[in-house]
Amino acid sequence: MSMANTERNLKHLFDGTEWNVYDDSVLNLGVGAPGPDLLENCCDIFDKATSHRLKYEKEKNLSYLFQYGATSGPVETRNAIATYFSSLYVDNPVKSEDLIITTGATQGLHFVLSTLIDFNGIIFIDEVTYMIALDTIKQFTTLTVIPIKLNKDGVDVKQLEQVVQEKRFQSKTKTFWAMYYTIPIYHNPTGIVFSEAICQTLVDLAKKYDFLILCDDVYNILNYTSKLPSKRLFSYDKGAGNIISNGSFAKIIGPGVRVGWLELPPRLKPILEKSGYINSGGCFNNYTAGILASLFEMKLAQTHIEKMKCAYKERMLHTCKVLELNLPSSCEWTQPQGGYFIWITLPSYADANKLLKLCLQDEHIFFLVGSRFAYNPAIANNCLRLSISFHSKEKLVEGAKRFCTVLKYFLKEGK
Ligand SMILES: Cc1ncc(COP(=O)(O)O)c(C=O)c1O
Repeated sequence: MSMANTERNLKHLFDGTEWNVYDDSVLNLGVGAPGPDLLENCCDIFDKATSHRLKYEKEKNLSYLFQYGATSGPVETRNAIATYFSSLYVDNPVKSEDLIITTGATQGLHFVLSTLIDFNGIIFIDEVTYMIALDTIKQFTTLTVIPIKLNKDGVDVKQLEQVVQEKRFQSKTKTFWAMYYTIPIYHNPTGIVFSEAICQTLVDLAKKYDFLILCDDVYNILNYTSKLPSKRLFSYDKGAGNIISNGSFAKIIGPGVRVGWLELPPRLKPILEKSGYINSGGCFNNYTAGILASLFEMKLAQTHIEKMKCAYKERMLHTCKVLELNLPSSCEWTQPQGGYFIWITLPSYADANKLLKLCLQDEHIFFLVGSRFAYNPAIANNCLRLSISFHSKEKLVEGAKRFCTVLKYFLKEGK
């Protein structure tokens, strides 16, 4: 097998087609994926876990792994997820019976949208949100998308309630007339964590007006302070059944593994399990999910996740240190307590697209402009997102310094 030009093999990671950033000389600070050095270990650990699992299948004469799997996924995989995440969330455990295994959070979102939401319904999103979730939602062209203001402590619940009251209707075709899609912990792109008060209000609103909240919880355990991971929104919902947590191993084991899970309340899980989409093929990835169970049983997953988390933390702290010292005072930002992303707001007159052009031209630095994350692009024209996940600490430090140099010059010139 030819491994020539591995860089080209990674081109699809770089959301920069129109900027042609595929040149090796460009330091891409836009990539929201683990870098190659963090995935290096995967060959070894997956080799061990695969041998472990296949030996078991052979010895027991099972071939379970190669059969259509149970719709909610292998019980050993669900148990492994429940045990591991319960140990991190401490007082709000994850239950194996609440889980459906997916091929990642992207598929989780698509599955929920196509199964539970009225095709003529409403999708509330944060005014800036994960850009590819936005692309996914927009593909459902009969849905109405309504962006809601985002404050420093989370979504603007007053505005959300007002719009919910205006728009609500009784769905005749699906379980929910509307869904609010969000990322309450280490939000993409802003890095914020929704406060407990906002989380509680969101759950109350969802119950009162019976809409669904789908939480992308892919960064939850990447907390870089001594505090325990924040309570996920799912655990605020005491029985009403309006919250789904959408989890994934993409950021903590490896995106190519394509294993994630939906954590569902009892009233919703059977609806998803009855859908033809999952019934026809059984578990979406029975084979890989089975291997993953061995990865946990052998404690290889836990060690790998811990290593990734330590590397991300170091990358985040070093990058933030450079920004703290060098970012012009007219720019606003808050050091994230976890996750991948640093969101920077330039003075209102500044255009992040023009800054990007200059960064590419002068310092060969790429980042994602704020408008990429907004349904109404103009609201985030003066914002941008840096990601700490892909490059080494050294490259990030150097890149952040070069970025700040251009930014200082850009803002002086722009006045
Ligand atoms: C908020 C959010 N959700 C989902 C994903 C993708 O998750 P997955 O690879 O599990 O589909 C990303 C990746 O950037 C993300 O930032």
